[in-house]
Parts: sequence; structure tokens; C-alpha cells
Amino acid sequence: MERPRITIFDTTLRDGEQSPGCSMNVQEKLRLAQQLDRLGVDVIEAGFPIASDGDFEAVQSIAASLRRPIIAGLARACTGDVDRAWQALQGAARPRIHVFLATSDIHLKYKLRITREKCLEQARDAVRHAKSLCPDVEFSPEDATRTDVAFLCQVVEAAIAAGATTVNIPDTVGYSMPEEYGNLIRTLREKVAGIDKATISTHCHNDLGLAVANSLAGVQAGARQVECAINGIGERAGNASLEEIVMAMRVRPDRYCYETAIAGEHLYPSSQMLAEITRVPVQPNKAIIGRNAFAHEAGIHQDGMLKNPLTYEIMTPQSVGVPDSRLVLGKHSGRHALALRCEQLGHQFERRELDEIYRRFVVLADRIKKVQDSHLLELIQDVASGNVSSSDVTGSKGKKFPPAAATLQFPRAVSAAAGANASDSHPAQVSGSAGQASVSIPFTDHHSEQEDYLWGV
Ligand code: KIV
Ligand code: ZN
Repeated sequence: MERPRITIFDTTLRDGEQSPGCSMNVQEKLRLAQQLDRLGVDVIEAGFPIASDGDFEAVQSIAASLRRPIIAGLARACTGDVDRAWQALQGAARPRIHVFLATSDIHLKYKLRITREKCLEQARDAVRHAKSLCPDVEFSPEDATRTDVAFLCQVVEAAIAAGATTVNIPDTVGYSMPEEYGNLIRTLREKVAGIDKATISTHCHNDLGLAVANSLAGVQAGARQVECAINGIGERAGNASLEEIVMAMRVRPDRYCYETAIAGEHLYPSSQMLAEITRVPVQPNKAIIGRNAFAHEAGIHQDGMLKNPLTYEIMTPQSVGVPDSRLVLGKHSGRHALALRCEQLGHQFERRELDEIYRRFVVLADRIKKVQDSHLLELIQDVASGNVSSSDVTGSKGKKFPPAAATLQFPRAVSAAAGANASDSHPAQVSGSAGQASVSIPFTDHHSEQEDYLWGV
């Protein structure tokens, strides 16, 4: 039997970026959008064009540079917002205008100060206007889970009649329980005329820690798009975490028999890149991509893991792109090994670039006890951005890197980037100090290619 396909709508660059400390500039957004493309998300919500010139520019440049995914721009339900979003999306191969309007009485009364009738009319008009510009229109009744259900059905029906092809049901304040959220989706499917003409979408916030559970309940009830964010970032406690949604479906097809187009091996590099760009570290015990997600310290666990990893791991680190940390970068490591680890972390280099990375790696390894993935990522970032002096000494985020001996630069040609943050490195070890190296050799000629075969576990 064919599995239903779930559209993954990534809102890291919009809802995620709105969360405290997570703002990104245009270049950073573009870099992350390129990684989201590699990850295989179906829709990238690139920003809220009316919010600022920077957001407009980010949506514009992402729309112009990515051809495969749908690029969505957010707009409030008014002409000015919709026009601005459409303007930003002009270069997109597959544009989507995402219109939203709050529908709960509490929002209507205190925030918008409008009646339900006015709300209905405004939603209908805004969707109709968006549809006159763009064939792909999504409508979100903000605070849907606290909206009177009969009124919610009425607004959703009007939005579909006006041309919305996706109706998103936000649990804006993370208030819903999984059963309740699933039932709400079921009710909409039963009661809204024309619902079959639209894709139902989930958008769940994590205020009670239930964003992923609610999204999955929504999918089980018939939603076919999930809105989510890398590392679960988003307003307040965040959005449903993309990596958790995807891996729940992949690890438990007996319960969640759905397909996504996500390339699992890009989950960890995407998470690392986001943490590096925002400098917001991932909590160590974060499911799927936290640095402890595949670490085993207790003796009984280590014993089990050595006998058979299935004893304590329900997925392999490789399936989510966590580098095989049994490979230790050490004094016998050569360029091939270094290149492999860089690749696992989302970076590919040409020969000349790798030489420079390698040269700095050796200098670094000579000076510190443990070279972790995060150090390597920071080193890559420093080299790629041409940092030659202070960053060689302290690292670009002030980490205490010892002084490097040389300061050569080369032009940038990093094809895929991942981030650097000491607290985000992922030593997914069974035992010992995997993901780390304890080295004390000077940078000398004996680090030649001949040494590459000495790379080992
Ligand atoms: O949480 C929310 O309601 C939103 C909407 C704009 C979709 O982010
Ligand atoms: Zn939201």
C-alpha cells in the first residue's frame, strides 16, 4: 500500500526567526535556505516581507535562487501585506502567499477589535486578493485551537471558497492536547464544505511540550502538511521540531505510515548550521540531533551497545547525519579522514581548500587536548571567512583556540556549510572519547597524504 505523502513546510526562517535571539541577516537566511533545499523540505517559509526591508530582501533572494521548493511569504489579511509578499516572491519558480488572520474571540476582541462578521469578510477578501495574484494561497486562522469551532468552520470554508489551496490550523499558543487537536482536524474534514479541495496543515507551538505530538495527531486525523522548524525554534517555546516529526514517521511506520521527502542525513548538518548562525545552542538531550542523543555513558548501556546497538538505539546516528564518531581525528589522521569528517558535517572542499583546513587542523590539534566537531566547524568557518589573526587565536566566538602558526587565505568555495558551537558538537560515542582527538604533534612534513591510510577507529 502506498504511504500518504506529507508536505514538510519549514518555517525556521519565519516563525523560527521571530524567536528571541534567532534573528538572521539576508546572507544567513539564504545560506540556511540552501541547506533546507538540500534537506528536501517541500515549502520554505522565507519570511514576512512587510515586516522589514531585511525580511523583504531575504524572501526576494531566496525566491530568486531556489527553484525546487515552494517559497512562501507571510502576509496579514490586508491588501498592503499581500501585495508586498507578492512583490518579494516575484522571482520564485513556485511562489506561495500565506495569509493569516486571528479568529478566536479573545484575539478579535482585544487584539484586532473587530467582530466575527468583519473577520470573516476580511479573511475572504484577503484570500481572494492573494488568489488574484498567485495560484498557490495558504490561509491560517490564527489561534484556531481557541476559536469557536462553528465559527472556525465558517472561516475555513470561506477561505477555501475564495481560493485557498492550503488551510493551516495553528495551535498558536500551544494550548491543545493531541486528542483534541486530532478531533479538531476531523471536525473540519466532516463539517467544512469544499475541504477536499484544500490541503489541511498543522502548525503547533510547544508551550506545553506537545507540538510534535499534536502535529502527529493532526496527520493521523487527515492533515497532509506539517509546519515545523529545525531545532524546534519558534515563538516562545518554539514550533514542532522538524527532525522529530520526520524521524517519528521513519522509526514508527507501524503507527505513522507516511512518506516525506526529507534526506535524513542532512538533519544534523542543518541543525548545526542553524545553531552556528544564530549562536543559540541545541540542548544536549534534544531528541535526534542533541549531542547526547546517541551518547551512551552508563556501563550497562555501553555493554549492550557493544553487543548490539539495537539494545539502546532505535535509529542509527548515520540515518540523521550524525558523523560516525567512532572515527577519531587524531595525530595519525590524514587529509582523506579530515575530508570525510568535513563532508559528514556538511562541507565539501577542493584540494587547495582542504590543504589549508588540514594545515590549521594540525596546528590546532597540536595545541589542544580535544578536537571536537565544533572546533573543526569553527576552524572551517574561520578559514572560509578569511579570518586570519584573532580568530586563529580565540575562534570567531571567543573560544580559546591556541595561536595558529600561519595565516594563509583562499577564496571561498564551500558548497555546504554546517555550524560551529562547542555545545553542539556530537560525540556519538559508544565508549571512550569518540568525536575527539588528543594530539600533540607539531606541524611538520610527515603529515603527508601517505598518512591517510593510518586513519582508523
Ligand atoms: O502560530 C501562528 O498562529 C502563526 C501563524 C502566522 C501561522 O505563526
Ligand atoms: Zn506560529
